[in-house]
Amino acid sequence: MIKQIRTDQLKPGMYIHDLNCGWLDHPFISNAFHVRDQATVEKIYDLGIREVYIDTLKGADVWEARTQQEVSADLDRRLQEIAAKQPEKPVTAALKDEVARARRLHGEANKIVRNMMDDIRLGQQIQVERVEPLVEGMVDSIFRNQDALLPLARLKNHDDYTFEHSVSVCALLVAFGRGMKLSREVIKEIAIGGLLHDVGKAKIPDSILNKPAKLTDDEFARMQGHVAQGVVLLQATPGISKIALEVTGQHHERFDGTGYPRKLAGEKISLYGQMAAIVDVYDAISSERVYHKGMSPTQALKKLLEWSEHHFDPKLVQAFIRAIGIYPTGTLVQLDSKRLGVVIEQNEGNLLEPVVRVFYHGGQRHYIPPEIVDLAKVQDRIASFENYEKWNIDPYHWLPA
Ligand SMILES: [Fe+2]
Repeated sequence: MIKQIRTDQLKPGMYIHDLNCGWLDHPFISNAFHVRDQATVEKIYDLGIREVYIDTLKGADVWEARTQQEVSADLDRRLQEIAAKQPEKPVTAALKDEVARARRLHGEANKIVRNMMDDIRLGQQIQVERVEPLVEGMVDSIFRNQDALLPLARLKNHDDYTFEHSVSVCALLVAFGRGMKLSREVIKEIAIGGLLHDVGKAKIPDSILNKPAKLTDDEFARMQGHVAQGVVLLQATPGISKIALEVTGQHHERFDGTGYPRKLAGEKISLYGQMAAIVDVYDAISSERVYHKGMSPTQALKKLLEWSEHHFDPKLVQAFIRAIGIYPTGTLVQLDSKRLGVVIEQNEGNLLEPVVRVFYHGGQRHYIPPEIVDLAKVQDRIASFENYEKWNIDPYHWLPA
């Protein structure tokens, strides 16, 4: 049986089924292994991991611990509760009108971030003036209709991951800030921070950044150094705001003080640093990459909720979930009618009944003529969220073009 236990309950003789730290490039060879000694337990604790899943058929048990099913059912219930109250997000542009603009912006943003990283590698300074108009364009697009840009940002081509991740974090932070009703000025600065949050990676050698094998402890430490490097780069940038600096400098801090580089805890981390940490983890675990199939967005939100026990402020995680929806746009879902489709638009005031483009019959396992179904207007409901990989469906193909 798979059970969730606290790391302080972990002992040699147990079998770890899942280290439960999707955001972390941890130095263990695998996520699942036998715990042979106390040193391993301590290493796991030192990494900031506070809960793991064990397999009680393969190792010792903790009898009072909750099963994975119990944890999952509890998280599902909490997600539904969060969906009951949500901020309104007025849409001022039809999805079909915004999609073309969002595609252009997304392509341009990836190019700009890539060029900027190349320039930094060559020793040049960051020029905020070059990213400002782009960020303003992204803020405008998300405010008009966030369902156009957000799903595009989730899809990644693996060799562009660092650039695409930066653009995605930027877009998600805008949606988050909008949901929190922050001022547009503040949102713009958070977004600039989001776009630049990983610039320090330009100073990490390629051999570490793209190493196909596990990092050594030393390489791991150097990788973590991207935060300090990023701060140095931003401090040398004329016109950079304090908010953007906080986003960059604090995006790996954790609410319980287990993050890096400064091990800040609770309110010592600025609101913007905390928002960046949530968004950074969400994007890292939910991105669809060529060789790394991400979690479905809903699954990723469940993980954030689980981790908000320790690593994030639960209230902020809830605000983030409300800002992007329980079934974020781009999520593959199966309906009660067994039809499968992609969520293409949120319904204002109703996170549980979005608009879905259906195109596949999950029971009969064949494609059906595509149809747009507004769940707020029909009897059908979402039965489950699904993985693209499981159904062998190409997500690029089914998003609005
Ligand atoms: Fe980072």
